[in-house]
Formats: sequence, structure tokens, C-alpha cells
Amino acid sequence: MIGRHLLSAQDLTSADAVRILDTAGELATVTDRSVKKLPTLRGRTVVTLFFEDSTRTRISFELAAKRLSADVINFAAKGSSLSKGESLKDTALTLEAMGADAVIIRHGASGAPYRLANAGWIQGSVINAGDGTHEHPTQALLDAFTLRNHLRAGSGDLAGARVAIVGDILHSRVARSNVALLRTLGAQVTVVAPPTLLPYGVHTWPCDVSYDIDDVLPHVDAVMMLRVQAERMAGSYFPNELEYSRRYGLDSRRMALMPDEAIVLHPGPMNRGVEISAEVADSPRAVVVEQVTNGVHVRMAVLYLLLGGRPEELMVEGADR
Ligand code: NCD
Repeated sequence: MIGRHLLSAQDLTSADAVRILDTAGELATVTDRSVKKLPTLRGRTVVTLFFEDSTRTRISFELAAKRLSADVINFAAKGSSLSKGESLKDTALTLEAMGADAVIIRHGASGAPYRLANAGWIQGSVINAGDGTHEHPTQALLDAFTLRNHLRAGSGDLAGARVAIVGDILHSRVARSNVALLRTLGAQVTVVAPPTLLPYGVHTWPCDVSYDIDDVLPHVDAVMMLRVQAERMAGSYFPNELEYSRRYGLDSRRMALMPDEAIVLHPGPMNRGVEISAEVADSPRAVVVEQVTNGVHVRMAVLYLLLGGRPEELMVEGADR
């Protein structure tokens, strides 16, 4: 069962994940209407607490909460007392005093959302919007939703789907959450990277590992390209960007190795010309913009389920008006 918090994709059973994806599918119909709002979370307060930069994830959560009629407070590290050195604890106590029902946190330190959820500082739900190099569960859910729409006509799990995740696996919370969730949903995952961009212990992950993208591409239903996370790199993990893109970047020549129906995902922000060429990023096989749209639906579903929206409301309010 989906509990009070969403901290890790590993906490989700297949039934939980399918329930979130199905709910997201229902909620997607709301965005097709002229009035894109449900009253479900009226009177509830949702806080986005972002210690790291973000475009898509923060806006997506804000929009999701607003479409469910919650009051939303955006709390960014820059421009708040956080930049004066206020601790996570004092920030949490402040949010609690203001009656936050859910706190959506992005933090540079792996584990920060766990501290927030388990230290007893706040009563509400905690949603992990990316913690260090650890996890980004709602990204994995929106990726699964996107894959399901393309590969499984939008229902059920992803049993047997073949997905390659390519690039900076070492620093990627998106990769960690995706490997866990895709596996839970029955997909076969291969991570592809130079040995220097694979974490220690990757061979114990529930996926295959390859160093050769050209070997893997002919056998996938989808490929997920990851950004090279320069801001998390202390040393030199590869000679230079040109060399990286030559060996691991997805350009048109490489995309032609993939089966005709196979699709290309990227969580954004993209480094065009590094891990993905502009031509591939703009091709009809790239579903990057669709991933962003789906992010809103999936985050609505997560907020809805964690904050206890009732299924009857969804049915009644889901009717056209
Ligand atoms: C990712 C992140 O921040 O983890 N982006 C996102 O949430 N859409 C991936 C990245 O920064 O490369």
C-alpha cells in the first residue's frame, strides 16, 4: 500500500506503481478540459522545498498541486533564510508551524528527505523530488507512464519491455529510481556507460550492464539518455565531451540501429550535442516533451493518493463539465 510518504521507488510494489499510473491516467483527462481543476485538495497546503535548481520538477509539482486546488508555497533555497544558513530542522519546524500537509523536497544530500520524514519534525507527507545521487521516484513514475502509453497502450505493467539507460549512471538519481521501478514493473533494464561512470556495485543491481551502446540499441523498445552531470563531477571521468559523445551520444546514425518503433526518453535538462544530438532530440521518436506533460499527471496522482483523495470524488469530478 502507498503509505504517507514517497521517498524511494524501491518502496513501491508493482500494485502500488500500477495504481499510481492508473490514477494518473484518470487525472490526465482533467487536463483535457477547459477548466483544468479538481477540488480534491481544497484547503490543503503543499510546500515545494528546493535546495537545488530545477525547472521541470518544481513547476510540475506546483501545477499538479494547483490542479487539485491545494494552496502551494514555493520555498527555494536562494532568496530564503536557507541561504543564511538556517538548518533543515528549523526550516521543517517553520513549515510545520504553518500547517504544511505535504512537503516536496529536492536536496543535494542523498537521504535528506528521509531525515525530514523520520525525524518527527513534521506531520505531513514528504515527497522526494530528487536527493543527491540517490533517488527521484516521481521521475521514474512519469517515465514508466510514458513507456506504458507507447509500449503497452496505457495499461498494466511493463512486463518484458526492454529499456536501456545510457550515460552518467554514477551520478544519476533518475537511473537508480528507474532501475528499481522498471524492474518492479517487469521490464528488462540494461545500463550502458563507460566504466568510470558506473557506480561501485552496479553488478548487484537488478539489471544488465554494458559498456557498448551499439551492441545494446538493436534490442531495445526504449532508450533513456542521461545528462552528463558536470556539477557532481570532482574528477575527470572521461577525456572530453567530444570523445564522450562519439562513444556514448545518441545521434541519428545510432538511432537507426534501434528497432523502428523504439522510442527515446530524456529526463531533461538535455545537453544537446553531448549525450543526445539536436536531430535526435527534435525527432518524432523522442518523447521528451510528452514526459514533461506526463509528469504533471503522475504528480497529481501521487499527491492525490498520499493526501487521501477519495476515488468517488475522482469519478464525480472527472465527469465532463
Ligand atoms: C534530473 C534531476 O534533476 O535529477 N532532472 C529532472 O528532474 N528532470 C536529471 C538531471 O538533472 O540530469
